[in-house]
Parts: sequence; structure tokens; C-alpha cells
Amino acid sequence: MKEQLIAIREAAENSIKAAKTMQEIEELRVKYLGKKGELTALLKQMGSLSSEERPVMGQLVNEAKALLETAISEKSAELKKAEQDEKLKAETIDITMPAKQSKVGKLHPLNTVLNDMIDIFQSMGFDVVDGPEVETDYYNFECLNVPADHPARDMQDTFYLGENLLLRTQTSAAQIRTMENRKPPIRVICPGRVFRADEVDATHSPVFHQIEGLVVDKGITMCDLKGVLEQFAQEIYGSDTEVKFRPSFFPFTEPSVEVDVTCSECGGKGCRVCKGSGWIEILGAGMVHPKVLASCGIDPEEYTGFAFGIGLDRLTTTRYKISDIRLLFENDKRFLDQF
Ligand code: PHE
Repeated sequence: MKEQLIAIREAAENSIKAAKTMQEIEELRVKYLGKKGELTALLKQMGSLSSEERPVMGQLVNEAKALLETAISEKSAELKKAEQDEKLKAETIDITMPAKQSKVGKLHPLNTVLNDMIDIFQSMGFDVVDGPEVETDYYNFECLNVPADHPARDMQDTFYLGENLLLRTQTSAAQIRTMENRKPPIRVICPGRVFRADEVDATHSPVFHQIEGLVVDKGITMCDLKGVLEQFAQEIYGSDTEVKFRPSFFPFTEPSVEVDVTCSECGGKGCRVCKGSGWIEILGAGMVHPKVLASCGIDPEEYTGFAFGIGLDRLTTTRYKISDIRLLFENDKRFLDQF
């Protein structure tokens, strides 16, 4: 029996040493130490031994068992480590490999110019207000003193959505909403999209952007209007920019002006951009008509105000020398990537 034990132990030790996989180890464990394993079988035969032999043999078997258990656990640790090393090797990361470039979004040129304008007006104490793009006839026309027979009310110029609903043709509607909701002193700008049923070409688009400005307080004069616009123009175009008022007409302002600035391209000498005149028209403005103030519940005897409407798209195309307004709305990435 002792020889048998030694033979089993040696065979087991050799096979454990030679094992190459965890599965082989498991099979060997079952083969020798399992319930039906060879060592267990040997223990079962102990009954046939004499009472002197039994403890000696028992001790030997237990020793062999312990020995094999240690051998198995050592081998499996070794195999596990080898397996892990293998895996780590396979998963090695090449830290010198160039990283994937992630694309970062950026502001649309219209938004860049708009943000600059908001900064300028905010620094002069203006609040930014918002108004709806779908307006009623009342806010877009009637309250702004635009008579019913005014050509702007024609279907050819305005997108109507129903009897009294339309897409606003000017941000001036925001003047009315502001004056209805705030008491003077008022100093606001309202940037936004406006819509007109224009033919599309290099300088016209059915959707474009305006920034409406409105100031109402006691003692506001046209000098204040000129001062604000001069300050604005010089910050946008440069400190030697001059501002020129030309008489004009808007139903909701009296007097009304169109405002030109010295051409930023040629400095006023005359070039292709300003068509030789040295001036570029940037906005319409005027003193708020007393009728408009009154219809918003502001006493025109006590208060006066001015309003202006700046075209954002024109400002953007001249700043970035963009030859066609349509490029601003096509969202072609190749175009937008240039800013
Ligand atoms: N709303 C006018 C336009 O769209 C511009 C404007 C605004 C004129 C405010 C005067 C005062 O042409």
C-alpha cells in the first residue's frame, strides 16, 4: 500500500508539473483528490490494515494529500498569472499612437457679430428683450402707425399665416410689446429673425436678422440717437468711423432717418463695396412717433424716445467680406469652417 501511495504521489506530481491549462489542473484534482479519486480510494482501503499500520498509513496519505493540494494551488496560481500576462500583452495600448481628433463646434458668423453688438449695447445700459416671430397684424403694423393701405401690408411683401397672423417683417413690433410692459426710462434692444416675401438673390433673403433699439425717457432728443449710433459704429467699425443721417420716412418715427457710416473698406474715399460713395447704409431710425407712444399708454407730452433697426446680415457680410447673403443660411460646413 505504501508503494502504491508513492507511485500515485509521484505520478500526480509529474502530471501537475506538466499541466499547461487550468482545465488540465482541474482534471488532475478530480483524478487524485476527488471523491472518486485515487487517494480517496486508497484511504477507503485503510480498513483492511492492522490497528498499528492504520495511523502510520493515514498520516502518509494525509501528507500526500496536502502535498498535492499545495502543488495544485501553486500550479494554478502560476497558470493564472501566465494567462493574465498573455492577456495584458495582447491588450497593450500604444500610447504614442495619434489620438482621434474630435471636432469642436463654433459660433456662426451671424452669432459672433450679434454677440459683439449685444456687448456694445449692454455696455451702454441696454437690456436685451425677445419677441415672437409670429406676430399679429396689430403689433407688426397697426400699432406702429402703418396704415392699412401701406404697401408693406401687401401679400407680396408679408408672409401671412391667417387673417391677423403673420411672420414679423420687422423687429419693431418688439418696441410696442416693450412699451406696453415697461414704464420709462426704457433702454432695450431686441435682436431676432424677420421675414419678407423677397425674391432671393445675393443681397436678399426671405429671412434675415434685425436688431431693434428703443430708448424712451424724459428729454430724449435726436442728439442722443446720434451719440448712441456713433458710439456703436465706432466700436464695430473702428474709432475714426463717421455717422451720417439722411432724412427718410418710417410711419412709426418722426422725424425719420437713414443712417450711413463711412465705408470701412476704403475709409470714405470710395470703392467697389460702397459703390464709390464712401458711405454704407446700415440702419433706419428716428424719434418714436407721438401716436405710437400714446397708443402704448406713454404720454408723449412727458416722454420722448428714439428707435432704430439695424440689419445684422449686412453688417456680417461686410465685416467678413462675404459676397452672397445666401451663404449665411445654407449651413455649408466648408463655408462655416472658415470663421
Ligand atoms: N423697422 C424698420 C425697417 O425694417 C427699421 C426701423 C426701426 C426704422 C426702428 C426706424 C426705427 O426698415
